[in-house]
Amino acid sequence: MVLDMAQQAQGVAPRTALTWKPWYTTRDSVLDEQHRTIFELMNELGALVQAGRYDDAEVDALLRQMDVQVDEHFVLEEGCMAKQACPMAQKNKEEHSQFLDIINTFKTEFRKTKSLATLQAFHETASYWILAHVCFVDIHLRSCGRHGAE
Ligand SMILES: [Fe+2]
Ligand SMILES: [Fe+2]
Repeated sequence: MVLDMAQQAQGVAPRTALTWKPWYTTRDSVLDEQHRTIFELMNELGALVQAGRYDDAEVDALLRQMDVQVDEHFVLEEGCMAKQACPMAQKNKEEHSQFLDIINTFKTEFRKTKSLATLQAFHETASYWILAHVCFVDIHLRSCGRHGAE
């Protein structure tokens, strides 16, 4: 599944590092900072892929960090959207759930294959998903009224 998704994303998936740009802002400084952190974690994973040298402990540590960051971010962002009655709130939740499926599918595949191809497919799929999701879903928060941690 992860490999299929990476193939579908081919041509549009970012092959270089994710770079946060000002127009990705949600106008919530905490959420923006979390997005930047998630971008950095994906870039660390990209560096492992590019080097072609990694061990299970490195990948595990990165995935654990990603799990913590992503969980924390999704809870906060979904709460903000609900509070603001954002029209994208439901779609946001659905896409978050889809991303968690992508991560879990990858973990299962990686445990079986331990292969660079699996790691690369996950990196491309997840990078593409994150960028598209921030640009097409998350940024709607900025037109939903008041923002920021209260
Ligand atoms: Fe989101
Ligand atoms: Fe987000």
